[in-house]
Amino acid sequence: MLYSEKVMDHFKNPRNVGEIEDADGVGEVGNPVCGDIMKMYLKIENDVIVDCKFKTFGCGSAIATSSMATELIKGKTVQEALELSNKAVVEALDGLPARKIHCSVLAEEAIKAALVDYYNKNGLELPPEIKDFKPHED
Ligand code: FES
Repeated sequence: MLYSEKVMDHFKNPRNVGEIEDADGVGEVGNPVCGDIMKMYLKIENDVIVDCKFKTFGCGSAIATSSMATELIKGKTVQEALELSNKAVVEALDGLPARKIHCSVLAEEAIKAALVDYYNKNGLELPPEIKDFKPHED
């Protein structure tokens, strides 16, 4: 079996799909090679990610990784979200085939892009984790 049960589950029943109208941070990233696009919305109160939604125009692994990524940061602090790596998302999904790892990178980048937006909107200095963040240009 190429994909784990968890990947199939999050692909078929993705969690936290949608938009947040009054989001505190919004990030959109794309992979220029495969053309997939991911948009992430964060609602942040007192430094905690109280809600998180995503929209992904992309492959099954991109959907599964964005779904899992939202689950991993919901209820967590901004600092914990900053530290979320694509590797942690892949591990939480019980693995991904090597040629699908870039899909999980998109999930990590979408969260980072949304956090950059949050810091910028609030006039805060970007922390080291996202200081030099640059999403793929497409
Ligand atoms: Fe590009 Fe999955 S194939 S994000």
